[in-house]
Amino acid sequence: MDINDAGLAGTSIEQLIRAADISNPMTVEGQAAVADLAKVGLEALSNCADTLKDAEPGGRPAAIVALLDEDVLHALATAWRHSPSRVLAGFAALSNVPGSKSTVTEVMRQVKRVAAEQERQLRERLRRSMSGPSAVVNLSKLLEHEDIPPGLSCPTGWSIDREGVWSTKVSEEGVEERTKVAPSPFLIVGRRWDIHDGETQLKLAWKRGERWTFRTVARSDAMDSRPLVALSKWDAPINSRNAAMMVQFMSDFEAENLARLPTDETTTYMGWQSESGRHGFMLGDDQISGDDDPVVHLVPDDGLRQVADGWSTAGTWDGWVSAMAPAMSRPMLMVSLYAAAASPLLQVLDAPNFIVDFSGETSRGKTTALRVAASMYGKPDERAGGIIYSWDATRVWIEQAAGFLHSLPLMLDDTKRARYKSVVSQTMYDYAFGQGRGRGSPTGIRTQVSWRSVLLTTGEAPATSFSEDAGTRARVLTLRGSPLGEQSTANARIAMTLKAGLSENYGHLGLKMSQYLVENRSRWAQLRSRYRKVRDAYVTSAGNDGVAARLAVYVAVMDVAASILHKQLGVPAPTCAPLEFVWASVLGGSRDADRPKAAIQDLYGWAVANQLRLWGRHETDARDGTPRVPSSGWAGSWPSGDQQPLALLPQVVRRLLTEWNYDHAGIIESWARRGWLSCTKTTMTRPVRIDGGRSRCMVFDSGILEALNEDE
Ligand SMILES: Nc1ncnc2c1ncn2[C@@H]1O[C@H](COP(=O)(O)OP(=O)(O)OP(=O)(O)O)[C@@H](O)[C@H]1O
Ligand SMILES: [Mg+2]
Repeated sequence: MDINDAGLAGTSIEQLIRAADISNPMTVEGQAAVADLAKVGLEALSNCADTLKDAEPGGRPAAIVALLDEDVLHALATAWRHSPSRVLAGFAALSNVPGSKSTVTEVMRQVKRVAAEQERQLRERLRRSMSGPSAVVNLSKLLEHEDIPPGLSCPTGWSIDREGVWSTKVSEEGVEERTKVAPSPFLIVGRRWDIHDGETQLKLAWKRGERWTFRTVARSDAMDSRPLVALSKWDAPINSRNAAMMVQFMSDFEAENLARLPTDETTTYMGWQSESGRHGFMLGDDQISGDDDPVVHLVPDDGLRQVADGWSTAGTWDGWVSAMAPAMSRPMLMVSLYAAAASPLLQVLDAPNFIVDFSGETSRGKTTALRVAASMYGKPDERAGGIIYSWDATRVWIEQAAGFLHSLPLMLDDTKRARYKSVVSQTMYDYAFGQGRGRGSPTGIRTQVSWRSVLLTTGEAPATSFSEDAGTRARVLTLRGSPLGEQSTANARIAMTLKAGLSENYGHLGLKMSQYLVENRSRWAQLRSRYRKVRDAYVTSAGNDGVAARLAVYVAVMDVAASILHKQLGVPAPTCAPLEFVWASVLGGSRDADRPKAAIQDLYGWAVANQLRLWGRHETDARDGTPRVPSSGWAGSWPSGDQQPLALLPQVVRRLLTEWNYDHAGIIESWARRGWLSCTKTTMTRPVRIDGGRSRCMVFDSGILEALNEDE
């Protein structure tokens, strides 16, 4: 027959049969193929009727028998299944032609037989397809959203359309049965894979009304009905009734699309991602890496997202350089910058963690020193959004933050704000050893965090005064004094301009530094050997001073950092000598190991600074010479003139020692033992005249005080 008559020009009946046979009858294409073939069958019937009209009575049976041609019969059987009433009507018309009835009956019998056979084959095919490869339906086209990756297909036994997620099944009779599982579309659109521990997350998408929601969850939560129900909070079409089915759906969906789902490699921490520097350096959300490094995305754990935010840039490099101008002549500020720059170098040089501590009186620029360090990498602010954090944090938080920063410096401001002294001592201990205590996350599987970096801390009392552990103390570079220089209005103004300038220009040097280190990965060994030479020189210069010899390692790292900053990265050379300054503090700082001596020096310094509170050096009224009582009360007595003993009220001494984090009982006892405190066997105090009265005071010999103070 001529199938052009069926309006399907250019397509042979064999092609139509093949299309109808191989298409999935559940798809739109499959149904169209069947309809085309049925049309051919119906056309054959009407052509036959036309032929009969003109045929001689003897030729009529032959014209009807032509319908038994194998292909035509196939098309007729398909038409019978597709629209039986039209086929019946066609055959009825043929039967009405005299002398054709019995032949028509025979042809109809054959058509029904072939149709039954077709049904049987179809059922078989469907049953096979339930376990065979599924039809690829481009879901992104169906569900229309640019964030749905192309080529995703629905696993066998399921379907997704605009109405929702369906479970599908073919009955014994070959009829597809669909049950709605979720009332709106829901699917997996991506995966994330942690490069360190392989922890996997799934990016899920669902559509409610016209709005799509995308959410990334731990894979373990997507594969468990209970946490999955929690997504209903964000309008996901999940409830406690369908959750178990949806878990099965997602498992099937993921398996079906594993190769097609985009998989991002992720990390949960910043800084270096591996020993060798492969994967580069994460600075905030930026990955500084070589061309061959795989792309990694930063995905902080819960609660650490905000910590990541401040590690960014603002303003310009030139803006930062000019804002830094006042720091160039202030060694403590430069040391602070070098300490920040040393942090990412520790891994490169294979050097140990260390702590830099700025301690001293209030309003002398300690926090300003942290701002200088912070401006290298991000927002130099101790308030929300900045990268200077407060000691007023829990130990767990500090540990998590240190692990998250990983190779970047941790800056903690003001030990006085710590909730407990033990937070400071234990944090310093942990920090020095580079490892947290491994308290888990609520799910209990987050592994122990570790870091290799520099801790910068400030406080009125030296950080070492919080810790009696010798191992920790040997890792602290203590810098006492005024980072901004002596107290003056000029310096107060400089503190303000530094703060303002840095808060507008930051983050550029950190980027330069990490780019430099990544680009020069092949030369790390050279850097390391240079560092060893520098270190050995410092160690030699420490001579017999054991503590200084240990601290030499850290000064050497800062030395290497300084030369990279000034020689490679274009930071202007300072007009002071920061490394000499820090080395001198190291050599002088060994005195800190002698706590009673350090305490008496601090006390002497306090007395000098607070002479007006001491009877004998107090202010008097200019008119009548009456003594002016200090607003915070008398602290003791110190007659003016040389060689006069200093007498302090015991409660004042105890309060000061406690404030400076000394164990006052132990300290006072050893002063008495060493003979630095005038006392008898039974008492540590003596009566002293103050403002007309007599009070018991601790009395220090001025000769001893001066000798102890000179002796640096
Ligand atoms: N050397 C100085 N001379 C005069 N004023 C200074 C000096 N250093 C700091 N200040 C003043 O103190 C303010 C605070 O500076 P900064 O926060 O750096 O001090 P701090 O040492 O951290 O003080 P605190 O112990 O109160 O935290 C500055 O804005 C400035 O006004
Ligand atoms: Mg401060």
